[in-house]
Amino acid sequence: MANLRFGVVGCGRIGKLHINNLLNNIEGAEVVAAADPMLDKSGAREWLAQRGITNASTDYMDVINNPDVDVVMVCSSTDTHCEVSMEAVKAGKHVFCEKPIDYDIAKIKALLALVEEKGVKFQVGFNRRFDHNHKAVADAVKAGKIGEPHYINVSSRDPEPPPASYVAVSGGIFYDMMIHDFDMVRYLSGSEAVEISAVGSCLVNPNLQEESGIPDVDTAVVTMKMANGAIATINNSRQAVYGYDQRVEVFGS
Ligand SMILES: NC(=O)c1ccc[n+]([C@@H]2O[C@H](COP(=O)([O-])OP(=O)(O)OC[C@H]3O[C@@H](n4cnc5c(N)ncnc54)[C@H](O)[C@@H]3O)[C@@H](O)[C@H]2O)c1
Repeated sequence: MANLRFGVVGCGRIGKLHINNLLNNIEGAEVVAAADPMLDKSGAREWLAQRGITNASTDYMDVINNPDVDVVMVCSSTDTHCEVSMEAVKAGKHVFCEKPIDYDIAKIKALLALVEEKGVKFQVGFNRRFDHNHKAVADAVKAGKIGEPHYINVSSRDPEPPPASYVAVSGGIFYDMMIHDFDMVRYLSGSEAVEISAVGSCLVNPNLQEESGIPDVDTAVVTMKMANGAIATINNSRQAVYGYDQRVEVFGS
């Protein structure tokens, strides 16, 4: 198979993680271009050069217009995902976009319509579907080992909260963090939510809303009823003092 050539937009925390994974763990993957407006201030230009990526720009359109790029990895801040993805799809590139695509359903639908029209591949960064522990649960459910799923419980707790500047454009805990757990509940139940309720508090950082400028919370619980009758609960914390903690339980018939 010919090598796949990637261009990475956004060289912060997750962009660097994806670049390292592409370079070290994915056979046939090449990273041929990268972009980030903060390249020269954040030290990312040197970081990229150390990995042989010298085609680095502060303008993401340079990645999109690069004829050597087959796949655009959208790893920039959340508020840029839809715009960058739109431009990449328009240019006929395949796209891997970090979650969430956008905060506005109409914009997401317009993007997905363009993806269909252009016939390109588009993947969103729901990495937990590929985590072997979560996948083992999903496989057991699919194989009917637990009967009909009655109850799904997802606990998702980060080791430490992100900086206020990240939260400000993240869309808040439900778009930014619980989105993985909503995806997991849909994946495990094979069904869509028909009822939902949520509660949240600022317990990790009581000043979160003033510091981020958005009405966010750092601790939240959601209950969902799915179309097939299954009931799900999700709990999120931005700070588990003992470290990263991800669990799923599916209780069946
Ligand atoms: N799937 C996951 O589990 C997971 C984990 C972490 C982050 N993410 C997602 O990845 C995205 C980035 O998160 P992060 O933690 O790397 O944040 P970050 O703040 O560390 O990095 C974001 C980078 O994007 C750059 N950027 C901003 N505007 C840009 C533009 N127009 N063009 C190119 N680059 C631009 C910034 O300069 C910064 O370097 C977020 O949307 C987040 O939701 C997903």
